[in-house]
Amino acid sequence: MSPPEEALPSPEEGLASLRLFNFRNYAELSLRLGPGLNVFVGENAQGKTNLLEAVATLLLTRSPRTTTAGELLRWGADEAAVDAVLVRGTLSESLALRLRRVREPGAGPADPAESPPRIARTTSSDGHPIAPRDLLGRWPVVLFWPDDLQLVKAGPEARRRLLDVLLAQLDRGAADELVRYRRVLEQRNSLLRRLHLEGGDAPDHLRTFDDALVLHGAGVRVARTGLVRTLGPLAAAAMAEISDATDALEMRYVPHGATATDNREEAMAALRRTLARAHAEELARGTTVVGPHRDDMEYVLNDRAARSTGSQGQQRTAVLATKIAEVRLVGRVSGRMPLLLLDDVLSELDPARRERLLGALATGAGAPQTMVTCSEEGLFGERRSQHFVVRQGTVLAR
Ligand SMILES: Nc1ncnc2c1ncn2[C@@H]1O[C@H](COP(=O)(O)OP(=O)(O)O)[C@@H](O)[C@H]1O
Ligand SMILES: [Mg+2]
Repeated sequence: MSPPEEALPSPEEGLASLRLFNFRNYAELSLRLGPGLNVFVGENAQGKTNLLEAVATLLLTRSPRTTTAGELLRWGADEAAVDAVLVRGTLSESLALRLRRVREPGAGPADPAESPPRIARTTSSDGHPIAPRDLLGRWPVVLFWPDDLQLVKAGPEARRRLLDVLLAQLDRGAADELVRYRRVLEQRNSLLRRLHLEGGDAPDHLRTFDDALVLHGAGVRVARTGLVRTLGPLAAAAMAEISDATDALEMRYVPHGATATDNREEAMAALRRTLARAHAEELARGTTVVGPHRDDMEYVLNDRAARSTGSQGQQRTAVLATKIAEVRLVGRVSGRMPLLLLDDVLSELDPARRERLLGALATGAGAPQTMVTCSEEGLFGERRSQHFVVRQGTVLAR
């Protein structure tokens, strides 16, 4: 039998309570969380993923699921909010995210199909406005979603995202490089698109963006290379812990058309060289074809590319090892255990792998605070946990 709600213990560290307003299919929700495993059970399309997405969107300042912020507002609503109380020992902090649809004035009688309203977002800490970049990493999060199970085999984008979400939380300098790189890439791409459509060559005009692209692109590469060199050995150790076989796992950062280096000057020179060579191709395709947005991270198992030679079981275990490594790395660098958001992945794992994952994540103090969703009960054996039922945008503690 589960304890009544008043008896729910608060976490020592992590998310103590959560409130949602007009977020996805939640009109209004108020929820208290416990330490360790918080299990959210519900049928399909009830709001389990939406709940985890709300937490991730607040703590990462962006949704991990969509780049269209408007999708996060409940249909028909013009305003949405996510509020959370986070605790650490006797400290507590209230974080809030507000999303508001802003209709640009002067657009005449609104035709929503023509000019989609902008979404204004504000974040605050204990009632004071706070810049998203100052919020990132304060309460670190590690995500594990069903798509991640294909991480080894999927296209490079998923692997780049994994690295960038970690960097954004752990390394402020790298987070800034990522933002600057994305900005210059976007500007450069829109110029290339125009040159491509209108014809003609404008190397001078293009060159004004090249310096920034090379500078920040090299910054991103150096940061990712350094991260992979730290994360890789942690993943290899986790792989050895959780696999029966003695598979040797390696992770390598692979810059497109260059060699990995953690020296910025070298990285800049290499990027400049490949950029010069790509000039004709860039005009022909109307987009930037070299740089960290084309890079990859390779998994190597027993000296072979895991993507093409690993069995499905080995690939899955490598993914679990990566997630364990992420949790440990965040613990080491930031000095705090991340909140773990596991969406529907445990049911995808066989019982042995599930147990190994949960076992490897547990520390002396027990499991890190985890929000896990699933559609069936009984996946957790004897592990101590709080259970909630999710139904049509409501969540009830059991
Ligand atoms: N902006 C929104 N407003 C209202 N409902 C939404 C919105 N976005 C998604 N939904 C609804 O949320 C439900 C899916 O919730 P989700 O959390 O993905 O389900 P699951 O419990 O399977 O993880 C669907 O019924 C979908 O129609
Ligand atoms: Mg779901």
